[in-house]
Formats: sequence, structure tokens, C-alpha cells
Amino acid sequence: MAQDGQSQNIDALMAESRTYPPDPAFTEQANAKPGFYDQDPDEFWEREGRERLSWFTDFTTLKEWDRPYAKWYLGGKLNACYNCVDRHVENGLGDKVAYYWEGEPVDDRLTITYADLQSRVVKAANGFKSLGIGKGTKVAVYLGMIPEAPVTLLALARLGAPFTFVFGGFSATALGSRMQEMECEYLITQDAANRRGKPGALKPTADEAMDMAPTVKTCVTVNRTGTEVEMKDGRDHWWSDVVDGQDDDPKSCPCEPMDSEDLFFLMFSSGTTGKPKGILHTTAGYLAGTSTTHHYVFDIKPDTVYWCAADIGWITGHSYIVFGPLVNATTSVMYEGTPDFPDKSRWWEIIERYKVNVLYTAPTTIRTHMKWGTEALQKHDLSSLKVLGSVGEPINPEAWIWYRDNVGGGKCPVVDTWWQTENGMILVTPLPGLTTLKPGSATHPFIGVKAAVYDEAGKEIPAGEGAGYMVIKEPWPAMFRGLLNDDERFKQTYWSQFSDAYLAGDGARVDGDGDFWMMGRIDDVMNVSGHRLSTIEIESALVSHPDVAQAAVVSRADATTGQAIVAYVTLKDGADGSTEKLAELREHVGKEIGPIAKPANVVFADSLPMTRSGKIMRRLLKDVAENRALGDTTTLADPSVVNEIKQRAESDK
Ligand code: WT7
Repeated sequence: MAQDGQSQNIDALMAESRTYPPDPAFTEQANAKPGFYDQDPDEFWEREGRERLSWFTDFTTLKEWDRPYAKWYLGGKLNACYNCVDRHVENGLGDKVAYYWEGEPVDDRLTITYADLQSRVVKAANGFKSLGIGKGTKVAVYLGMIPEAPVTLLALARLGAPFTFVFGGFSATALGSRMQEMECEYLITQDAANRRGKPGALKPTADEAMDMAPTVKTCVTVNRTGTEVEMKDGRDHWWSDVVDGQDDDPKSCPCEPMDSEDLFFLMFSSGTTGKPKGILHTTAGYLAGTSTTHHYVFDIKPDTVYWCAADIGWITGHSYIVFGPLVNATTSVMYEGTPDFPDKSRWWEIIERYKVNVLYTAPTTIRTHMKWGTEALQKHDLSSLKVLGSVGEPINPEAWIWYRDNVGGGKCPVVDTWWQTENGMILVTPLPGLTTLKPGSATHPFIGVKAAVYDEAGKEIPAGEGAGYMVIKEPWPAMFRGLLNDDERFKQTYWSQFSDAYLAGDGARVDGDGDFWMMGRIDDVMNVSGHRLSTIEIESALVSHPDVAQAAVVSRADATTGQAIVAYVTLKDGADGSTEKLAELREHVGKEIGPIAKPANVVFADSLPMTRSGKIMRRLLKDVAENRALGDTTTLADPSVVNEIKQRAESDK
């Protein structure tokens, strides 16, 4: 069951037996009190929904479940922007800091209070409205980590316009196909993003993407870096021209009352085919689920300074940089750059400067810091930290302990939070102050989350009795409501393997204490640096190169990125497998999907190992990639090809 690519990690996890009981002093002050899990989940979510959110019209029914279709907070009317911004200003929190924004260039920083945020959002919403954006208008967002990113999402939420935010590292093809699939009419982007001291172009990529997506008629561009870009008459507008002169009186642009189940946004994510899935999230359940988990999992207090170091372009950023924290009127740090720009102490400087209490990041980043050593970290006062979070992939115990000891000074609970784009919110996680922690275990399902591990036949594997398929048996508030334009795929992918549960696509086991240990993907989805990538999507990208005949993509274990991509390629007659070709193919994948999808290794082969029925045997290629003894080769049409590939792979090292 264990993903081969992560087998070393799994072995380490299986052997792990250290435990960290909660500190009584933490428990004393924690948001989640002893007895937390004894509450009735429906009463819990009903109360959280009423108390944590403000409603224009109260909901009448907590939930409806007609498997696989869930609805939450039925009958309610609310607005996400009102919940994130306006009501806090009305309640006297206007001077509270919403974001400490830290630009990539040193000393380029802004303090944005809730009142500032409201003013910026109202202006942006009025500007968008002047261009014709209103309730139901579909908008694409392609921005880096600049203040305009949350401002744009909130302004669109204010108007009731559903959006899809495409990560700034994605290619023109990726952006174009997403905009086309959603039939977006508008695009909000920026000239270029700061990338390690140099501008990385976004607008030219957006231009190319718009050529592929003719539904997009209007584009608004933020000038972030002063990079010269082409502006097309009648289509392209500068943000400053559209937004700066607008009225910032909230009454000039009231928050649109939305139904609880109105589409809020779409997030595209890789699945097991070449085509990314448009994952649908609706309004009320998403807001309730993200803000509630944010409050309890990170133990957020009125004066907490919280930093989720993800990118807004991923679901982690939507849920835990923008919407969850803002519903809770939290003060967040938002950082534009990378951890080692201009040097490796950047993160620790930020934590020290803003006295950050909560840090939420990914194992791959923790392992990168670990590789760099503790020198930079030791020069900074990190004593403000209180809770450390991890998300995106299984965290190996060594990295967990390093994080706790070196970043958290040995005193901070580490919350390893398991969830997915489809989930919208954290589903399996410790609660600091309540949970006995185990390095490498995401521990408990959150209240009301009916998680289980099934065997092949759909029977629950009892605690302590081995690994199987991670499933969830009951709906949760922030659950995705389907896939854009593909209900069949929605049912097929998630709800067909078992008749009574959601199939997460991960392997897992539950230990004798009932704690969950996540073991990585069990399908053709890879997890590279916490980013989800599909093997088939990368194969399709490779095959779209004119010289490539066939491609097989597998992952191998990597000490920093978790998994790394290995591509085996056969070339068409006449094409030569030179070092230049290799670089060209990597670039090609980068251009088709995005730099994160570039294979770490490309191996040229004369042919790929096929079964007699013509299927590529990825399992064998994975053995080669991970230097293992070859598995069963009996169904192979021509056994000699694997040895040939093995030799090539070795000579490439
Ligand atoms: C996949 C979902 C949800 C935010 C980031 C990723 C893996 C995520 C953990 C964790 C073990 C994890 C799973 C999951 N994953 N968090 N704490 N422990 N694995 O979102 O791109 O939708 O990917 O990430 O394999 O299925 P995503």
C-alpha cells in the first residue's frame, strides 16, 4: 500500500514511537478545551456557523446530504467580504492590523489595518464594477504575493463574482486552459513579480493565455515592478487607472447578499488524467470550515500574529492566508519572496520583527531550512512562536523534531495538518493543548470528520491493523461541491470505489491509539514540494514536443522535495538524445505546465518497458529511478529494455 516513492519515509514513520503530551499551561489557555471532541458535531457546526459568521439572513437547515452532494447552512444569505472586512471595522477593529505585508525587496513593507483593507477593497470593487464585473461574472486572477491579491479576492467576493486564482508559477497554457474551462470574462494580473531580485514576467504570460481564452475581454494589470509590458487597446487597463480614483465609502459599493451554496471560487488541481479538475467551493460552508479550524488548530487569540507562508495561489493560501484568518479578524504576515532572499535569515528576521506566534509551512521548506543549518536561525529571537504548523505532504519525523527543537525552541506544539484542495479545510490534525503529538502523525480527525481506513473491499481496517485507503464517510462544511463541467468524473474519481465514503487518494493507517499516519498518494498523483502534479499531465506535456515519441513519468523519493519527477523518454527517429535536448525537454514541460513540473531527471531510452498488452510498466521504471532491485518482470514483452534503461539512468548520474 505504501507509495514506493516514499517507502523510506514510511519505514521511518512505522518505527517512530516518540510522543509529546500537551503542556498543561498550554491546555489551560487553549481555545479547544478538554471535552472538545465530546460535543455533538451538528450542534458544534450549527453554533460555529451562527457565532463565527454574520448573516444577512439566518440559515434554516444545517446540512443536507444526498451522497455525493452536500449542502450546508441552507437558506442562509451572507457575504464573504462583509465577514472578512466590513463587520470588523463596524465592530471597532478598524485599527487592528490585518496584514503585515513584507515585500521581497528589503525594507519594502506595509502595515495594512482592517480599515485600510476595507478602503482598498471598496475602491477595487468599485473599479471592477466600473468595468462591468458584477454578481456571477467569472474572473481569473493571476497574481503574486502582493496586497492586491487578497484585495482582489475580497473585492470579487463583495460583488459576488466567482473567481479562479491561478498560481503565478503556472504557464500560459495552464492559465489559458483554466480560463477557457471556466469561461472567464476578466483577468486580474500584474506586470511582473519579484523573483529573487529580478522581475519575473506575468503580463506577457497572461497575454499568451488570453489568446487561448477568447472569453476574456478585459484585463486589469497591477504595476508592481515597473516592467514594460504591452497593453492592448480596449482590453488592457492599469489597476491604478481603474481603482485609485474610486470612492472608498463602503456604502458606495454594498456587499452582495449571496446564498450559502452560491459558487464562491474554483481551484484547479491535478488529478490522475492529463486534465486538471476544476474543484468547486461554495460560500457559507467554506467560510465556516476554514475559520473554525483556523481558530482551534492554531489557537488563535485576539492578539495573535499569524504567518502562513504558503502562496495565495494554492488552496492553503485561500483558506489560511485569506478567508479563514480574516473571518477571525486575525493579524497575519504576508511575504512576497523566498526564504533565502537576500539571504537565508530572511524568514527568521520576519518572525523576529513581527513577533510571529504561529508559523504554518510545508515539510519541503522545513527540510530546506534543515539543510541550510541552524546558524541563521540562531541569530534571531524566535521566542514569540507558540504553535508550528505543517501541511502539504507527510512530514518525516526527523524534520518534525528539527522544526520543534530549532524553530520552536522545543516548546511549541507542532500541528501536522492533513487535508486537500477538495476538502477546503483541515480535516485531520492535532489540537494544541489537547492532543498528544507523535512526530509524523496527523493524529485526529477534526470534530465531525468521520475519517477511516478501508481495505480493497471497502471494509474498515481496525486501529492498529495495517494500512489501506484513506476515506471520509460524512460530509464536512468546506467540502467541495463537485467538479466544473464534469459530474461524471466527480462521481467516478471520489465516490465510485466505495459505496459509502469519499476516496481521498491517499494511503493511511491508524495506530493502536486511533492516530492517523498519512502515507502519500496511492494514485498517479505526485507530490513535489507539497504541490500536486499528475504523472499523466507531465507525460502529455512531453509527448507534445515534436521530437518525443513516448514518455513515462514516475516519481522517486527525494530528501528535500519529498518526491522528485523522473521522465523516461523515447525520441522520434532522427532526433538525438543530447544534453541540449534534455534541457530543452525540461524547459518544454516548464512552458506547458509551469516550472514546478520540470522533471528532475530525464532519461532517454530506445524503448520503454511494456507489458505484452502494451501498457507501460511504470513500477519497473520507478524501481530504476529509486535504485531498487527490479520487481517482477514476467509480463514484460522485452525484458532487456529495462536493463538498457537502467544502464542509461546510471550513466546519467
Ligand atoms: C495531498 C493534497 C491541502 C493543502 C496542500 C496540498 C498530501 C497534504 C498532508 C499531511 C500527509 C499530506 C496528501 C493529499 N498532504 N497534507 N499533513 N500529511 N500528506 O493540497 O494539492 O490538494 O494535495 O497532499 O497526499 O492528498 P493538494
